[in-house]
Amino acid sequence: MIHNFNAGPSVLPKEVFEEASKSVLNFNDTGLSILEIGHRTPLFEPVMAEARSLVKELMSLDDDHEVLFLHGGATTQFMQIPMNLLNENEIAAYTETGTWASKAIKEAKIFGHVEIVGSSKENNYTSIPKNIITPPTAAYLHITTNETIAGTQWHTLPYDCGVPLVADMSSDIFSRQLDFNKFDLMYAGAQKNMGAAGVNLVVINKNILGKVKRTIPTILDYRNHISEGSMLNTPPVFAVYVAMLTLRWLKKKGGIATLEQENNQKAELLYSTLDALPLFKTPVAKEDRSKMNAVFIMDDNNLEKEFLELCKKEGMIGVKGHRSVGGFRISMYNALSLESIKAITDLMKDFANKKG
Ligand SMILES: Cc1ncc(COP(=O)(O)O)c(C=O)c1O
Repeated sequence: MIHNFNAGPSVLPKEVFEEASKSVLNFNDTGLSILEIGHRTPLFEPVMAEARSLVKELMSLDDDHEVLFLHGGATTQFMQIPMNLLNENEIAAYTETGTWASKAIKEAKIFGHVEIVGSSKENNYTSIPKNIITPPTAAYLHITTNETIAGTQWHTLPYDCGVPLVADMSSDIFSRQLDFNKFDLMYAGAQKNMGAAGVNLVVINKNILGKVKRTIPTILDYRNHISEGSMLNTPPVFAVYVAMLTLRWLKKKGGIATLEQENNQKAELLYSTLDALPLFKTPVAKEDRSKMNAVFIMDDNNLEKEFLELCKKEGMIGVKGHRSVGGFRISMYNALSLESIKAITDLMKDFANKKG
């Protein structure tokens, strides 16, 4: 059996793979592949409509929040957000929590001024900044709710920052219940908790739009996507379809609350195992540990290599840490089973016993 701990693209529910592969050959008994149908047809339009309405339902969104499925990955949002929300002479508040937040900051500087209102750079991004103060004149506050590489996660959200709240939720979307209506813009690449690579979910409070002075290229203006029902141009048809299937699976399981319970169980088992085994060290502050991506190291490089080899032999995929930080990373997205965490924690215990 393979246990897939990849950080993204990553494990998806088996039933989604089965349904998606059937539809590549014969979509809804039409005799046509999902890959060869037009997007503006009665075949695909219901797919897009269901995907959008499942997001609304699962997040209990109010009527001000619009749901878009866009191209370009989360990285495109790093620039599309300031392009749509930040005037040249204004400031946007950003928190600097790791690789992904830093990339977002770099892009925002192209369009206006950035004020870093909280940073964990000094401690190598091993914690989440606390007690941040957002200037009331800021166009918005940007946070990265889960830093996929650093292995940190915001557990107390800055809902009361006093300005529009914007969040990169690429690696923890749909993994826990949040007060989603308090966010004015949420975005996430689909390839972790939501489906296949190639599509990007953007949820936006339409009231924050239309305030910048610059001319925005048609394809990058959120208002055009909203008015065209997320079909301004050809959407990534297959990726939207897989996202819709994954959202259906999520709903059938009982929604975000059920997934959150399962994710808590997985994280609890993994971190309690790590804490009990001195061979493994976790650099992240305990209260800021990510429930999606756990990062840890060993002091001995040779032992690290040995453990990675063992993981490979036992069918445990994606355990190696990101190339920029080394060590190990175990990603525990929604579709990863508790059995997989049991398997890797048993392996860690065995290994530590032999080496200790
Ligand atoms: C938190 C976070 N933001 C942004 C990205 C970039 O996403 P994409 O590759 O879809 O542009 C990633 C990718 O892993 C991520 O983990």
